[in-house]
Amino acid sequence: MPSARVFITRRLPVAGLAALHDAGFDVDMRAADDACPRDELLAGVNGAAAVVTLLSDRVDDEFLDAAGTGLRIVTNYAVGYDNVDVEACSRRGVAVANTPDVLTEATADHAFALLLAVARRVREGHALAASGNWRGWQPLQLLGRDVSGSTLGIVGMGRIGGAVARRARAFDMPVLYHNRRRNPDAEAAVGARFVTLDELLVESDAVSLHAPLTPETHHLIDAAAITRMKPSAILINTSRGPLVDEAALVDALSGRRLWGAGLDVFEQEPVVHPGLRELTNVVLAPHTGSATERTRTAMARLCAEATVGVLSGGSAANVLNAAAIASRR
Ligand code: DGY
Repeated sequence: MPSARVFITRRLPVAGLAALHDAGFDVDMRAADDACPRDELLAGVNGAAAVVTLLSDRVDDEFLDAAGTGLRIVTNYAVGYDNVDVEACSRRGVAVANTPDVLTEATADHAFALLLAVARRVREGHALAASGNWRGWQPLQLLGRDVSGSTLGIVGMGRIGGAVARRARAFDMPVLYHNRRRNPDAEAAVGARFVTLDELLVESDAVSLHAPLTPETHHLIDAAAITRMKPSAILINTSRGPLVDEAALVDALSGRRLWGAGLDVFEQEPVVHPGLRELTNVVLAPHTGSATERTRTAMARLCAEATVGVLSGGSAANVLNAAAIASRR
């Protein structure tokens, strides 16, 4: 009997995929780093028992039809899974897994790196120091904003939001948060204060977004929300681009109605709004929140382990729809 085929839509760190090879599966990893074109994706999933997808791969009825009835699991190589129609998968008995926990610290580090870089104008400082035109220390040169002691507002107090809050504590930052429901652990651990979104926007010196993309969070930060923020405030987004109305953000940043922004994610990736590319009060990163060797390898390992678990008749802790799948048995 041929071994089950596992289709992986892009190159992943091979060190994390050992479990798939050890289990004897036919591992078919697309030999490319770019997003898989739709037609190639639909052809690739055909006949697969498992697919490891990325956030650029839309998993919907068309995908599931193309895969056929042998598909048992889709594992998304990300903690966010807004690209996956989980209900459609559940209806067909296809398990869906993601990669929680292992990328929490790396993503929180990245959010903080962006915050510090924007506040302390690291990008402009680098450009000046490297230009050959720096004329020496000046009392009024590249004055930034203090991070230490300033108030941080966290939108979405889940695992990553909580890890950002812990970092904020080391910077003596009072932490406000807004979440679908209160998070007593974060309140106890870092003294975070639960507030409405409006209070958070009004009171924070920096706002960091860590909510998933859903119809409710789409354009959560729009022109009206930005108007509520302090003109001296900084916006950080390492979650999903469409949480922010980029046109409104560009408008506010160019009109200096907002101090700056650090963005790791964009509305139409990989397209970056041309207005953002022209501004100097932004630090832009190409969706690299989880991009460390250790983290990306651990993400691959989680995908491999969930795949092995489900294909060998069991499950895995990171299967999102385990209850729905079990109820079909
Ligand atoms: C995620 O995990 O959701 C990131 O956006 C990719 O690391």
